[in-house]
Amino acid sequence: MVLFVKRVGIVGGGAMGSQIADIMAINGKEVIVKDVSEEFLKKTKENIEKNLNDLLEFNLTRADKEITRIEKSTQIKLTDEQKEKIRETLKPKFTESLKKEASDRIQTTTSYEEFSEVDLVIEAIVENTKLKQEVFSELDKHTPTHAILATNTSSLSITEVASATNKPEKVLGMHFFNPPITLPLIEIIPGIETSEETVNDIIDFMSTIRNHRYPMQPIKVKEVPGFLVNRILFAMMNEAYACYEDGVASMRDIDLAMRAGAGMPMGPFELSDLVGIDVIHHVQEEVRKMVGGNTMNQPSQTIRKLYHAGRHGKKTKRGFYDYR
Ligand SMILES: NC(=O)c1ccc[n+]([C@@H]2O[C@H](COP(=O)([O-])OP(=O)(O)OC[C@H]3O[C@@H](n4cnc5c(N)ncnc54)[C@H](O)[C@@H]3O)[C@@H](O)[C@H]2O)c1
Repeated sequence: MVLFVKRVGIVGGGAMGSQIADIMAINGKEVIVKDVSEEFLKKTKENIEKNLNDLLEFNLTRADKEITRIEKSTQIKLTDEQKEKIRETLKPKFTESLKKEASDRIQTTTSYEEFSEVDLVIEAIVENTKLKQEVFSELDKHTPTHAILATNTSSLSITEVASATNKPEKVLGMHFFNPPITLPLIEIIPGIETSEETVNDIIDFMSTIRNHRYPMQPIKVKEVPGFLVNRILFAMMNEAYACYEDGVASMRDIDLAMRAGAGMPMGPFELSDLVGIDVIHHVQEEVRKMVGGNTMNQPSQTIRKLYHAGRHGKKTKRGFYDYR
């Protein structure tokens, strides 16, 4: 049976959950977001509103920005006809009324009662197996039997999270990348009991979804520590932290080097602050417990210190850099 997704549940309306809710809503899905308190949900709604406004602004100003860019780079003044052609090609696909429709599709809650009609749940709470298992045990009780239950974990075992339910064949990892509204990759990770049908259904479903810029690109990845992208990325990031600790270059110069010399859109320290030092710390600790440091280096001392100092990156206004 092919999965038909009408209503999506999101558990955890933080950095990732609020953006995943936004993506589902702009794709016409009804969305219900659960968090622990109304205070957190207020922040969730503000995040969603801001991101939808940015998408609207991007759509409304895109053509004029492109005209200015062409005129500036070629030093040629475009004719009215040429400008009209550009405006027609880059006509806004997202409008004020589509924004309102998307906002109206998103509801928030602090209870699981409203998960009785979801077809898919994506959990995005803190990176902790025990807490995620508690959520999945509740989801098992409150969601329909056909519903697929996914975790957005960056590092934890899908099989362990799924063991808290009575339907591990319907549980899998859906690992989005930060910020999911613009990064299209999604790693689809089956646990040991996940059925082939569940994996195929989610790959097919995600292939129909667009974020703010691109069609989403699902890939199937084996359940291994760090999955695929983080396994490669963290090896590089750890090397950058080690270079900083060894005084090879300054933090700013290492960021500059990886942008200007390796073509990365962001340097490793800028990326760390965006991802969150707490998230990186949890991922490194979990991976270390699982593999004893075989696939990645030991967690960096700098990450450990920043984590314990509460300097968790952009979200706390201090991480490697100061944003105050
Ligand atoms: N931040 C990233 O770059 C990134 C990227 C990919 C995946 N992830 C993963 O996504 C998950 C969430 O990360 P985040 O950065 O959005 O975290 P976050 O701290 O921004 O948000 C977590 C949210 O979950 C809520 N929450 C905690 N316990 C809950 C519960 N029992 N029920 C409902 N809500 C609960 C919190 O109140 C908070 O709003 C983690 O598993 C993380 O590893 C994060």
